[in-house]
Amino acid sequence: MSLPLFLAFTTFIFIGIGLWQIKRRKIHVACMLGALTLELVVVYLLQTGRQVVQRSMESPPPILVIHIIIAVTILSLYGAQIVSGIQIHLHGRWRRGHKVMGCTLVALKVINFVISILLPKAAG
Ligand code: HEM
Repeated sequence: MSLPLFLAFTTFIFIGIGLWQIKRRKIHVACMLGALTLELVVVYLLQTGRQVVQRSMESPPPILVIHIIIAVTILSLYGAQIVSGIQIHLHGRWRRGHKVMGCTLVALKVINFVISILLPKAAG
């Protein structure tokens, strides 16, 4: 297993602990921010090692386009989770939105993790 794939897998452990400890806000927030940090490390490693951003702009295969769109959506959802999480903490609102976006984020992460395993075979 490559380092980026291993780190991508580790983000699930962080998110899992964060969801398990949902009522302990400090642990929940720390785990989710830890997952986001790892997520950004993965992007950095892929960019420095394989120049993924440049390669994604040179007629990428369709599966890679899907993978990138999902990855960007996931990063945007992390941002939305931070904003809505702060709203829950400070004003007790946006709880439902936080929950729905959180579930979407986790579902997209599972889909993209599977795609990232299939990618090398599909891209040839
Ligand atoms: C992958 C990212 C995240 C996921 C999947 C996630 C998911 C959830 C879920 C499902 C809840 C329960 C909502 C409810 O009870 O209706 C929750 C609660 C909460 N989340 Fe997150 N969250 C994430 C990131 C964050 C971040 C980054 C923050 C803060 C900056 C945050 C702050 C909170 C707070 C304050 C609560 C309320 C906890 C309580 O009931 O005491 N979350 N989160």
